[in-house]
Order: sequence, then structure tokens, then C-alpha cells
Amino acid sequence: MRTEQPKTIYLKDYQQPDYWIDETQLTFELFEDHALVHSRLSIRLNDAKPQAQAQPPLVLDGQLLELVSVELDDQPLSNYQVDDDSLTLQPQTASFALAITTRIEPQNNTALEGLYKSGGMFCTQCEAEGFRKITYYLDRPDVMSRFTTTVVADRGSYPVLLSNGNPIASGEHDGGRHWISWEDPFPKPAYLFALVAGDLCLLQDSFTTMTGREIDLRIYVEPENREQCDHAMDSLKRSMRWDEEVYGREYDLDIFMIVAVNDFNMGAMENKGLNIFNSSCVLAQQDTATDMAFQRVEAVVAHEYFHNWSGNRVTCRDWFQLSLKEGFTVFRDSEFSADMNSRTVKRIEDVTFLRANQFAEDAGPMAHPVRPDSFIEISNFYTLTVYEKGAEVVRMLHTLLGAEGFRKGTDLYFERHDGQAVTCDDFIKALEDANGADFSQFKRWYSQAGTPRLDVASHYDAARREYRLSFRQHCPATPGQSEKRPQVIPVRMALLDSAGQELPLQMAGEQQSLGNETVLSVTEAEQEFVFANIDQEPLPSLLRGFSAPVKLSYPYSRDDRVFLAKHDPDGFNRWEAAQGLAVDVLQGLVEIHRAGRPLHLDQRLADIYRTVLADTALDAAMVAEIIRLPSEAYLVELADTAHVDAIHFAREWLRAELARSLKSELQQRFDSLQVSAHYSADADAMAMRSLKNTLLGYLMLTDDQAVVQQCVRQFVEADNMTDRQAALVALVNSPFEQPRQAALEHFAERWAAYPLVMDQWFSIQAGSTQPGGLERVEALMQHPLFTLRNPNKVRALIGAFANQNLVNFHRADGAGYRFLADRIIELDRLNPQIAARLVTPLSRWRKFASDRQQLMQQELARILATEKLSPDVYEVVSKSLA
Ligand code: PHE
Ligand code: ZN
Repeated sequence: MRTEQPKTIYLKDYQQPDYWIDETQLTFELFEDHALVHSRLSIRLNDAKPQAQAQPPLVLDGQLLELVSVELDDQPLSNYQVDDDSLTLQPQTASFALAITTRIEPQNNTALEGLYKSGGMFCTQCEAEGFRKITYYLDRPDVMSRFTTTVVADRGSYPVLLSNGNPIASGEHDGGRHWISWEDPFPKPAYLFALVAGDLCLLQDSFTTMTGREIDLRIYVEPENREQCDHAMDSLKRSMRWDEEVYGREYDLDIFMIVAVNDFNMGAMENKGLNIFNSSCVLAQQDTATDMAFQRVEAVVAHEYFHNWSGNRVTCRDWFQLSLKEGFTVFRDSEFSADMNSRTVKRIEDVTFLRANQFAEDAGPMAHPVRPDSFIEISNFYTLTVYEKGAEVVRMLHTLLGAEGFRKGTDLYFERHDGQAVTCDDFIKALEDANGADFSQFKRWYSQAGTPRLDVASHYDAARREYRLSFRQHCPATPGQSEKRPQVIPVRMALLDSAGQELPLQMAGEQQSLGNETVLSVTEAEQEFVFANIDQEPLPSLLRGFSAPVKLSYPYSRDDRVFLAKHDPDGFNRWEAAQGLAVDVLQGLVEIHRAGRPLHLDQRLADIYRTVLADTALDAAMVAEIIRLPSEAYLVELADTAHVDAIHFAREWLRAELARSLKSELQQRFDSLQVSAHYSADADAMAMRSLKNTLLGYLMLTDDQAVVQQCVRQFVEADNMTDRQAALVALVNSPFEQPRQAALEHFAERWAAYPLVMDQWFSIQAGSTQPGGLERVEALMQHPLFTLRNPNKVRALIGAFANQNLVNFHRADGAGYRFLADRIIELDRLNPQIAARLVTPLSRWRKFASDRQQLMQQELARILATEKLSPDVYEVVSKSLA
């Protein structure tokens, strides 16, 4: 056990800073074995803050820094205190200039936070608190400053020197060194600072804004990746246009730069004018990237670009407000993707992800509100709750206000708070003020953790021609929050007659017609809505488009779900009905299997699949979504006690049984998709591939050698990575040893020089549910291309194994848990943020049967007992055991 416990920080303790930093001038001298950072800060007392008599000390944040010198108003200063986290000095005047030089070692920075080296290039990552690992500073988002940055480095190794804003001067030094100065006219917090130095090649393009300004667009990558940037550039231009059209937001600087780096903890970072990306979120090309990767690039490029307004021009006052920028920006990027692709399919993907992952977080030991009220390590709060649930909360506001009202609200928000660091309350206030709305109850979505349950019952009164829906909401207790108050739950809904037609809606006692679809606002713990003039008992279509992030339950029979799956005019709810039926069927099979009784296929599910397989008018991607069974992870989330082996067995059994029953329909549709051969990256072509490869996955379960041959042929002959990879996944998860090994070897030889492609190769094997998974992963850890130092590799192998290979990870002897704990301990010394993220699967121990629970707890306790644990891992592990 550690002796001193890391400190918890509380939202309620927020105070304005004692000082502001108006100007920040930085000079970086980069060398192979160290870097010198010279800063010159213009500092001013915050006179808006009530002060005691004496002038307060200036406490600057700083970690892992070697302090070389300090000057106050150009005089050397010796009267200061330094400890592990700060530099403290006592200024005598209300404004002054402070010059500090620090020495750091980027080449030894394995945490990838602050200034570090990725391959041959220098780059930075400052969000959330990385700037303090570069120099002493007021490293908090409410301190906004104008930055000027000079980078000095060897010209041969680092011809490209970048920072935020516009280049203003450059020159040569002796010894082959050169320098460039950059100036960012927009005041920004230090977390948006960025610097890059490397031997990079450039893809350049331009964009003309709505007011006719021409913006220079640049994507910098390592030379071998030159050919893989077109899609990112294209996505950038579409994002810029979309933000003008949908939000009226124009880009503000003259240059917008993206740099791709291989070693990066997250997806990408929205540094002002100089976005730094994990190369996995930039590079995409037919031969190396799957359609999923293409869509991810499009979404992440958009996300970071949108941050220029929602995050940079208007930023967060403190890190508790993280969802102010992240929830809003995820909502923005998901709407962008919906507009660029199929809206319904995008919504299905997002909801599937949210329910399998964020709901699990909300039900686990790390559950926290969208706006947390305390943390130990802010890096642990870049969570699905802050991002994805935060986006759902913004989506609900959009639903409640309508597109126009929402736009009025965001216009006011941007206008009112441009250049400021604000709170989630300020965001809500702007939406309220622009619309005359009252969101005081709605704001509980920001402060209450947990996923509300919404139980619905109905009653039809034929005599009165009335139909009543009764809602009851309840939010389970979460750590630190035992009691919850009712939240505002918008329920988009319609009522269907026996032909599947939507009935006109009118509330009892009211004259106004609501059309065929409406949004009910459920605000009470228990609440009823009565519809008038209903001539026959309808079937309700509830929570259309997943209009609120809740667990809705209505006593649908399996026949009701079949009916909705076939007839609901709302595409999302058609999918939802098929999903609901599949969940119900699977949960039943799990119970039957555990009771040792034989399993039978409910023909109603096969019947729905047969119908959609024959429906060539339906978007192919929708067909693929409808015939995809709910994931094991989602079934685990839904269970009170998850029996992983039974879940895996039942799901695999059902897949195989469906494949056998529908063999000819699957094969026919598969064959019909073969003809549309020519590769294209548009939405239609992606939809076809998605369906084709889903069908291939089923067909491979039919034990037909002809199908295996077909799969091998697709693997060999595919002209794109989506088809090639889908074939590889099918082979790797099959029992056919020979073609599987051949394909894996062939793939590794062909793509050894492409790290992102090899990530897929690792991840596909890590996810294989064939027996012996742990041994395979252990062997792959020894592969020459694997390294713990690269977060993408860690995610591809260890992350995929622990999160996606449930049967193997949860093997009964606990060896999977022990393996993960060992890796966490090892990784914590290199990269605490990545180590802490790996704890998630162990933190979910309460979900499983008691033998597994014990084994998982044991490993968590072993991690906690490790010497010199980082605060990151300490927080997650100690909260998991609490
Ligand atoms: N702010 C980044 C994003 O959402 C995420 C990030 C956080 C990246 C912290 C790096 C470090 O887009
Ligand atoms: Zn973001």
C-alpha cells in the first residue's frame, strides 16, 4: 500500500486563480538528449478576486522539471520554493514579467504527456495537465494567454517546426540548427498549446470560408504515409462546410494543420490551429484501412475541427466541466456523420456502443455524473460518461428545443462566451435564455450518475376510446449518490394500429392535434399520458431514435416485437424491436442452457431475418444491423449476474442455428452482393460490404467447405482491407486450422511495414474466441512488432483480449485476470494513463459469479499493493475495490 494517498479535488472548492498570464513567450531548444524551455510570462494580479491584505504568493504548477533559472522583472531570483508539483514565489507588484528556464528529457518521456518523442519526431500532448511537464505555469483552463513560440532544432533531422497560430519569423543558427517563430492571436489555456518538430511531408489544400477567406489546410505525416491522407483532407473540408451551414461557425486562423503521430494516448487533440492525431485517426486508404477506419477518420477529424468553437473559442472553466466541450462536440460530430452517411445506421451504431459500454460504466464502481464533482486524476475522467452520455444529454436538449431553438441557443452561447472559460451551467443558461425555456430540472442529467430505468405500462379503455401510457422512472444508486430525483426524459413515440399505421395523436382533454409522432416529457417519478379518440388497442413505438439514454421496458410479447420489427415506420425502432427480440431469445437460451436443457430456435427470429434478407429495398447497412446479434458485452451488461460461458455458448449456438436455418437465403444474398465488384468508399458501397461480410460470418458457421474456400478466396483476392479483414476474422474464429494459419502468416508478411494494419492483425487474434486465447496473446506479446510503449499496440492486443474476448479472459482459473494485472503493473511504470484504462474489465467484478469475483478482486488487491503506483491506477483500482 502506498503511504501517502493522492489528493481528491472537488468541484465545490473551485476558486478563480490569483493571477492571470496575459502573454506567454516560449522558446524551445530541442536536442537529442534534452530540451531547454525558456518561458517569459507577463503576469497580472487577478483584482476581481477578493484578497487578504497581503499580495498572495504565485504558485505555478510543474512536474518532472529541472529548474535552471528564474528571473523576476529581468532580475535573477533566488527566493522561491520548489517541490514535486509546484514553484512558489512572492511577487511584490501587481504586474510583472517572469522568465523561467527548465530542462526536460523528451526522449525518456514514456507517459506521452508533455513534450515527448514519437519515432523521430518531437510532439506535445498537454490536455489535461501536460503543460506542467514542460514548464512552470498556471496550468488550468481558466488562465488564457496569448502564446508566441519559437522552436529551435537541427535542420537536417527536424526540417518541419510547428506550433499554434501563424508563422511570423524564421532563421538559421550555427551548427546546422534553424528556428521558426509562431504566433497565436487567440488567447488560450495551456492545454491547447502544441509543438511539433520532425521530418514530415505535407499534403496541402485550401478551403474558402463563407465570408470568402482562403484557409491553408495542411496535413503533415511521415513520408511513407503520404498516400494515405486524402480521406482525412476531404473529411476536414466537409467538416468546415458543415459547421458553417449547421452552426454558422467559420474558421478563424489562416492556417489549419493536422499532424499524425504513431504514439498517442488518445484519438486526437484539438490544439489551436495544430491538431495532433493518433495516426490511426488520419491514415485511411482502400488497401490498408477498413470502412470502419474510414468512418472513424471522418468522425475524429470533424470532432477535433469542431472543437475550434466548442472547446477553443469557448473553453472550460475547470476540468469538472469537461463535458461542456466533449459532450457537445461528440453530439456535433455524430450529427455530422449522420448527415454524411445513413442517419439511422449511425444512430444504431452509437446506441449499440453506448448501451454496451457507457451503461456498464454507469453501473460500475467508477460511475460518475456527466459533470463529476470530484476526482483524483483528471485523465481518468475522459470517459464514456463525459463523452457519450454527455452527447446524449445535448441531444436531448436538441430534441426538446427542436433544431431551430437549439441553434438559437448555440448562437447565443458562442456570442455570449466567445473568448471565455465557462461552465455547463453557462451552456444551459444560453439555451434557456434564447428560448425562454427552464432547464432547472433537466440539469439533473449533469449532476446525477447512473442510467435511469423507465418502466412503461399501458391500458386501453375501449368504452372511452382512450389509451393510457403510465411511466415510472427510477435511477439506481451509484457511488456517493444513494438517492436520485426524477429526471426529464423525452420520449419520442407513436402509436401503431394493427396494420402498422401511425395513429393521429391527441391528448385527452386537449383540442390540439399532435400529428403522428410526438415527444412526451416524462418529468415525474410516476406519470401518465392519456390519448383520446383511439378506436382500437394500439401498439406503442417508444423512445424512437433512443430519445433518452435510459433503460426502457415495456411488456412487449415476442409477437409484438416481430410486428414492430416488420412494420414500425420508424427505422431505428424496427431495428430496436429485432434487437429486443434477439436479447429476449438469448436471455432465454442462457437460462435453458444453464438448466442443462436442450436449446431450440425461436422461429420468429429466423422469420424476421428471412424477411429483411429478402428486402432489397432496405438499406443494406440496415439489413446488416438487424441481423447482427447483440454483443456478449451487452448481454453481460443486461444480466444481474453474468455467466460468461453460458452467454458465449448460447450466442454462438444461436448464430450457428440461424446460419443453418437461413443458409440458402444467406448464400443467395451473399452471391447477389458479389457482382457489385468495383471498390468505392461511398456510403452505398460501404453498406454493401458491411452486409456481405456479415453474411460471410454467418455462412462460415455452416461447416461447408465450399464456404471456407469462398472465404479464403475473398481473403486472397480482395482489393480492399474491409473485405480482406472480414475474411481473416471469419477464418481466425473458425476451427479450420490450416487456412487460418496460412492467412495469418500471409497477412503478417504482406503488411509488416504498416503498423496500423498490424494492429488489426494483433487485435483479430486477441479477439478470437477459439480455445487457448490467453496463450496466443502471451505468444503475440513476444512478436518483434509488439511493444508496450505504443498505446495502439497495447489496445490492439491486451485491450482487445480483455474487453472483447470474454470467454478467454474470464477463464475459470483466473489466469486471464492475472495476465492483465501483470501487464497493468508493468505498464504503470511507463504510461500510467494507458495502464489505468486497462483496469476497466477487472473493475467490473461485481457483474460476475462469486468464484470469478474473488479471483478478480485478488488481482485488483495485488495491483493496489504494488509500490509506487501512479495516482491514475491508484484511483481506478481503489474505487473498484471500495
Ligand atoms: N480532447 C481530445 C478530444 O476529444 C481528447 C484528448 C484528451 C486527447 C486528453 C489527449 C489527451 O478530442
Ligand atoms: Zn473532444
